[in-house]
Amino acid sequence: MPALENRLNLPPNPLRGIKKITYEYFNYMTDTNINLEDKANFSSPLGARDLYDFDEIIDRHNTGAVKIERCKALYGTDDVLPLWVADMDFRTPDFIIEAIRERCEHPILGYSMPPKEFYPTVIEWISEHHQWNIDRQWIGFLPGIVPGLSFSVQSLTSPGDEVIVQPPVYYPFFHVIKNNNRVLVNNPLKTVNGKFEMDFEDLEQKITSKTKLFILCSPHNPGGKVWNAESLKRLAEICSKHNITVVSDEIHADMVLEGYKHIPFATVSEEAAKISLTFMAPSKTFNMPGLISSSYIITNKEIRTKFVDFLESSELTGGNIFAYAATVAAFEKGNDWRKQMLEYVQGNIDFVVDFLKTNIPQITPMIPEASFLVWLNCQELGMETDDLFDFFAQKAGLGLNKGTIFGPGGEYHLRLNVACPRSILQKAMKQLKDAVTAP
Ligand SMILES: Cc1ncc(COP(=O)(O)O)c(C=O)c1O
Repeated sequence: MPALENRLNLPPNPLRGIKKITYEYFNYMTDTNINLEDKANFSSPLGARDLYDFDEIIDRHNTGAVKIERCKALYGTDDVLPLWVADMDFRTPDFIIEAIRERCEHPILGYSMPPKEFYPTVIEWISEHHQWNIDRQWIGFLPGIVPGLSFSVQSLTSPGDEVIVQPPVYYPFFHVIKNNNRVLVNNPLKTVNGKFEMDFEDLEQKITSKTKLFILCSPHNPGGKVWNAESLKRLAEICSKHNITVVSDEIHADMVLEGYKHIPFATVSEEAAKISLTFMAPSKTFNMPGLISSSYIITNKEIRTKFVDFLESSELTGGNIFAYAATVAAFEKGNDWRKQMLEYVQGNIDFVVDFLKTNIPQITPMIPEASFLVWLNCQELGMETDDLFDFFAQKAGLGLNKGTIFGPGGEYHLRLNVACPRSILQKAMKQLKDAVTAP
């Protein structure tokens, strides 16, 4: 298989394989390399320090990557730039790979407890980044957030009970409800001034005596919305009044972009703490979702007991040694990488937004406040959603997520993952422009 750069007709990447760039920084505004030794010319807020290389193109073929392996089945061709599944095409940071390598220095990979620093490290990260002081007994290991959503449906509701979600939303939310024979109730988000807002009137109308659970996506996928304290408080009031438990999926919490602040649902009011379960993870932020590492935090003893009893009786409480080691490394050493990654992602978002505005104004992106997913409103291209999806794949050579898999409100939309080298995104936007303007 030729190098990806060749297949994509890109110039060879001189930085392939280099873990950290210490001296050079590519400036997209001027299309030039900046030598950091010449600090007078370097105005980045990062200052002169080690820089990670997010421009590096890494071929993910033959690694089992879902993003690559499923293309043929989804798009009918392997010949698409895969800009869908929400993992990043950036190198998983060196300190995580190093932690795993270090663990492999010992010749036995036997049954293992989390290392003693595991929970203190997670607790300290959440305290420092989200100003939430967590008692050790509230928190435990969760083998994945989507599994956790399914466990909460199974442990806190009965078949036939109603569970509310806010579409368009991350599609496994629907699966964990329907596949466990619970009743899915949609409380669609409203779009106001180009941003999602919760519809509390609709929510109150949808609640019945059978409504037992609400699954919150915070920050929101696919809209990249960072919910403010007022919305979360109002949600807590309504759910508390009707004895509805809230599961808050906060996997995107550590990827909030400049100017926004993530507020854990459980911290907005006493009511919120009493009725909720929170799920957090380093997996998405540090590009290691294949390791499966997340945590639950449940302050209410009654909810915690039900949830943990379910985990214990299903023998689901343990993680794997690499997940433990990687989590500790991510939270102990990862803040600098995280900030640089977010700066790069923000640059990618800005690029896409500017490009669409100038070249394809029929497509309107929802400007994300967190994470690396951009929700594209393509209604003005004048195609039905299925045709739009096929147009992107067949005519533009782009593999995006079809909006309707995110439920009502997803019509005429596609979700674009921008966590990739900018050169790939530049190529993708050019292909899209060519397809849209083709006679
Ligand atoms: C909102 C949300 N929750 C959960 C997940 C996946 O979590 P996990 O891999 O821990 O099951 C994703 C991945 O895209 C997500 O966007």
